[in-house]
This record gives sequence, C-alpha cells and structure tokens, in this order.
Amino acid sequence: MNIQNLLSNKIYQALLTAGANPDCEPQVCQTSNPQFGDYQANGIMEIAKNIGLQPRFLAERVVNLLQLNDIAYKVDIVDPGFINIFLQSSWLEKHLFAALSCPRLGIKAVLPKTIVVDYSSPNVAKEMHVGHLRSTIIGDASVRTLSFLGHTVIRANHIGDWGTQFGMLIAYLEKVQYTNETTINLSKLENFYRAAKQHYDEDLEFAKRARSYTVQLQKGNEYCRQLWRKLVDITISQNQKIYERLNVTLTREDIMGESLYSTMLSDIVEDLKEKGMAVVNKGASIIFLNEFKNKEGNPMGVIIQKKDGAYLYTTTDIACAKYRYETLQANRVIYYVDSRQHQHLVQAWTIARKAGYIPESVSFEHHMFGMILGKDKKPFKTRAGNTIKLVDLLDEALERARRVVLAKHPAIDTKELETLAKIIGIGALKYADLSKNRNTDYVFNWDNMLTFEGNTAPYIQYAYARIISIFKRIKEDNQNLNKQFFLKTTSEHQLAVHLLKLEETITIIASRGTPHVLCSYLYDLAVLFSTFYEKCPILKTADAALRESRLQLAILTARTIKQGLDLLGIQTVERM
Ligand code: ARG
Repeated sequence: MNIQNLLSNKIYQALLTAGANPDCEPQVCQTSNPQFGDYQANGIMEIAKNIGLQPRFLAERVVNLLQLNDIAYKVDIVDPGFINIFLQSSWLEKHLFAALSCPRLGIKAVLPKTIVVDYSSPNVAKEMHVGHLRSTIIGDASVRTLSFLGHTVIRANHIGDWGTQFGMLIAYLEKVQYTNETTINLSKLENFYRAAKQHYDEDLEFAKRARSYTVQLQKGNEYCRQLWRKLVDITISQNQKIYERLNVTLTREDIMGESLYSTMLSDIVEDLKEKGMAVVNKGASIIFLNEFKNKEGNPMGVIIQKKDGAYLYTTTDIACAKYRYETLQANRVIYYVDSRQHQHLVQAWTIARKAGYIPESVSFEHHMFGMILGKDKKPFKTRAGNTIKLVDLLDEALERARRVVLAKHPAIDTKELETLAKIIGIGALKYADLSKNRNTDYVFNWDNMLTFEGNTAPYIQYAYARIISIFKRIKEDNQNLNKQFFLKTTSEHQLAVHLLKLEETITIIASRGTPHVLCSYLYDLAVLFSTFYEKCPILKTADAALRESRLQLAILTARTIKQGLDLLGIQTVERM
C-alpha cells in the first residue's frame, strides 16, 4: 500500500479536470501534526498561480472533484489553499488486514529493472578501514531494498586489484617466499604493504624488478599472475570474514575488480583517439572536457593514458561504465563511493556518454557519503593518529555490547551472551551510521549508539522483543488471529497509518539510496507502538474482537520492524 501515491494520483486527476497543467505537482506528503490530518497536499498554491486562479477556489474545486468517500472521513481546506486529508478507519482496517495477510506486508513488487550497485570496493593488499564502513553498509541496505522491491540487482564489489603498485607487491611476496619464511603472514596486510613500499623506495634492484613485474603482469605472464592471484585471494578471504560479521550480503561472486576491465583499456583509448575526443600531448593521451573547468577557467584535461603507457583509475571507470551497460545490461547503475571521488566519477561517465558507450536512458548515480569524524570533529582515527581498521571497530562494538548485555542480565549464559552481543553490537554500529543522512559527515559516538533510549538500534530491537514477549506470555499463535481490525482510539489510528507508510518509505530509499529515512520510520514506529501499548490495554480488554485487533496491531508492528531492520541488514532477537 502506497498511500502517498494513491492520494497523489487522485488529486492530480482532479487538478487536471479543474484545469491545471499536466506538469502540475500536487505535492502530497505525510503531515507532521495530526491536527492537519494524515496527509496533506501542498502544491495547490503554486498550481493556482500558474493558471491564474485563487488558491482557495482551486482547492475547493479539487476537493469537490475528489472522490475520497471510502478513503477519508474528512478533507479540509486551510488557507491559502492547503488540502488536509483525514483517513477513514474502515479503509485503514481493510489495508491493515491486507498487510497482515501477506508475507510482503502488502508491498507490491515493481516493474523490475536491472540495477548494478557498486559498493564496498576495498583495495587489495590493504585492510578494510573505517572509511569502507559507509559504502559497505549503506550500499548493502540499498541492495536489500531494491531486491525486496523486485529488481534484479547485480552487486559489484569494485576492488582495487590492478595498477602499477602490483609489481611492487608481487616482488615483495616473491621475496618473502623466497627467503623461505615458513608462514607467509599476510594477515597484517597493512604491514605487508608498508614493507613492500619500503623495499621499493630503498632497494634499487628491487624497484627495477618490481617495475618489470608490473609490465609482466599486464602482459599476462603466468608467474606474476599466480603471485597476484595469491594476494587477491588472501585479501578477499579476509574481507569476506568482515562481510559475514557485518551481516552484509556480499560474496566472492560479487567481486568485479578493476582487473576485469584491464583488457578493454587499450581499445578504449584507441577508440577515443579515433573519435577525436582524446589528444596526445607529450606522449600522454588526454581528454579535454568543456563541462569541467580547471583553475584558469579552461576545459579540464583528464589523462586516460600516461606517457609510460600506464592507464589510470579514470580509464578503468570508463571501461567499467561501458561494461555495466553493454555486458551486464544495466538500466541503472548506482555507486556508493565517498564524496571526494565525485568529480572523478562524473568525468568518467561524461566521457563514456560522449563516446556513446552509455546512453542517456541509463542513469549513473553517485550516492555519495560524508566522513566519519572523531569527537574532535576531525577524521576518526586511533589515538596514535592511525586509520581505524574495520576489524578493530567490530571487535570493540562486540565488547561494548557484551558489557551492556551483562549489565542487564548478569546471570546470562555465555552462548546467549555472545549471540546477543553480536546482534546488538553490530546492529548498533550499523544503525548509528545508517540513521545519519549519508550526505553529511557525522561524529562517531559509542555511548549514544548503544543506549536503549532514542533513535538507536537497541531501542528498536527492544520494541520488537517486547512484542514477541506479549505473545509468549499468552501462548497465542499469531497465525490464528482472525485478521479483523478495529481502530477505536487516536493512538490506534496513528499506529495504523504509520504501519501503512512502509511502502512509501522504502520507495524513497530505492530511488535516493537514503536508508536514514527507514531508520526514522522504524524509530517512529517503535515510539508510536509504545504510546499505543500504554494507552490501549490489550490482554485486559474484555471485548474479544478488540483484543484480537490490538494483538494484530502488535504483531504487524513486530513484523514491520523485523522486515525494516532486515532491509538495513540488522538482525532482531526475541529476548533482550
Ligand atoms: N577502491 C576505491 C577506494 O577504495 C573505491 C572504488 C569505487 N568504485 C569505482 N567504480 N570507482 O576508494
């Protein structure tokens, strides 16, 4: 059920009949104050101005034409021309019934598109750090939501597994293998990378070998390939553990790293030269883009091949865009990449579009995100000033959650403690991030995320567990409920309307990739449930039908919370 859509369409039709232009927008939205009803249309003033009518006059005409008899019990006009809609209980009851009867909570599947989502995308021979958290979990929430709505989603983990640094890494791997270290410990990838770099900077012989290995690797030399594979494999298995701990849906199959496009690069550069887009300047191939200006105000030059023959990050992203359209047949491509890479991505797509590799009809979207900051409002770092490894962050979340759980249940057994700590700790960490508007930076705060008060995962998970406990207490199987709803009080009405807003909420995430909207929705749901539970006795209600209805509101709330958290990649527990 998408109430916003339904009302929007009806008001739009009425507006057309009332003489508005076809491009008019009724601007239907949820009200912020129940005094103004459940939904309101805010577009009348502007539309009236465009066709030279008094807003109040147009609003009256629209309301007269609107046929909301079975949907709304009241439609008010408020000066100068707002339309406020008060939804009818019987209509809500019918739709709650439909939601409760349906495993998808009454949410319709959409016309499926093929959507490629580029997310997580860490680099080989480097550990995942806090900077990869946002891409990984926001991207995964988006993927889960798009899939739930019925789209064909292709997860693309664009790992950095190609480039000139690989000669150096291979040479170093060869060295530590050759010097017969019994175990090649790559578990500390960061150290490995640093040591390789140090050798490269200090040992001329080594540097020379490293450079030749880069060339050999690109030519497909089997020996170099093997060592490279090893580095990639170790990194992937290490990251895979993190994905599993984070409850992120990425698997090995989703890896489409930079190397995948390496064989396309020379043809692309040639083609761009032939098309007259790329020019050769001092041996390098450059594309000047009018759309972007450099500091002097001249078209910005984007290098696609260096004079030593090396290709660049941009060249790969041009090829990658082409591949996603041509080979994967994407209708839409979304990138969850930090905001600093915005210009890079837009330049690659601009080139790909101009070259005719991707058509206008296929959208390429950068769903960028800001940084995670420390308490000092500077990029979140360790005390020693190093970047924070994702593993360490996960360990700490777990440890802190253990303490929270133990404080509540000192006698809990170890197994349950571990399960709870994992679900609460990881849930809290993810939720704290997902609940912030992705476009902005935010300050990381352990204490806030793990409280049971306010807009946190534990608060919502707790609301879920509490509802489950009601059912445990009465030992009633929620399958036996007869599915008739009766909305008698304001708090039942408000909870009902909110329950039916799930579809419009997740539709927003599908289009804009903003999971914080779902977080706010779930938080509000938990708050509304709590008011309802306070004001409307369930088990003590004598009227059997009303008792059933309230139980059903409770179970529908629980299912909605569970589904919503699942779309965010957050688990629930039945006891907290
Ligand atoms: N590997 C890059 C990084 O760690 C992110 C890649 C994003 N995706 C892309 N198609 N460029 O910053």
